[in-house]
Amino acid sequence: MSAPGTSIAFPLRSERLLVRPFEEADAPAAHAVYGDAEVMRFVGDGRPTSLRETVEMIEGYRRHQRERGFAFWAVLAADDGQLIGDAGLEVTAHGVELGYTLGRPWWGRGLATEAAELCVDAALGPLGVRCLVALADEHNPRSARVLEKVGFTAERRVTAYGRPHMRFVHTASGAQPRSSRPQGRPSGS
Ligand SMILES: CC(C)(COP(=O)(O)OP(=O)(O)OC[C@H]1O[C@@H](n2cnc3c(N)ncnc32)[C@H](O)[C@@H]1OP(=O)(O)O)[C@@H](O)C(=O)NCCC(=O)NCCS
Repeated sequence: MSAPGTSIAFPLRSERLLVRPFEEADAPAAHAVYGDAEVMRFVGDGRPTSLRETVEMIEGYRRHQRERGFAFWAVLAADDGQLIGDAGLEVTAHGVELGYTLGRPWWGRGLATEAAELCVDAALGPLGVRCLVALADEHNPRSARVLEKVGFTAERRVTAYGRPHMRFVHTASGAQPRSSRPQGRPSGS
């Protein structure tokens, strides 16, 4: 894996998104996402955070970025720079794990898929990760669908945070560079 902090030029960019490491000043905007019970239902232990917990999460992401060269990153709308959620990579007991969480106003527009694609390309490209994992709560089919759309394969059921999840994997050998993926999205995403 590449040396921390030397391999990715931020922000990562897609048509509608910018992705960059979190900054301390992101806490209020991030809290609009992490403080929402509906958003957090399938994230971590399934409950919304207090503002203090949001600040601590961002500190944790910043530490992970310094130590590993990647982390959960801030996802911003490219047109106005508004923070709309997170997407990124974390070293967990399951491996290098992909995750994403968007605020409710931005669901259902293909944005999580767009953000996840940037993260997968960064991981399997410049970061040199050979195998990515992701977990989707069995009651969160939206998240499972995002994983399938960016090239993950369902592997087996596991328990995480006391709830049944499907573990998905994405290997470098199965990776398709963005340029060779079919363009456009199915309707509704
Ligand atoms: C899960 C989440 C990231 C999805 O974000 P999104 O931007 O709405 O996702 P996208 O629009 O890129 O893709 C959603 C896909 O799920 C599909 N979908 C939506 N509801 C669905 C359902 N009930 N069952 C099956 N598929 C569903 C959509 O049709 C779309 O697939 P398509 O493009 O083939 O039509 C977003 O809802 C979120 O942030 N939720 C809260 C946090 C969370 O659960 N994170 C994941 C933790 S593992």
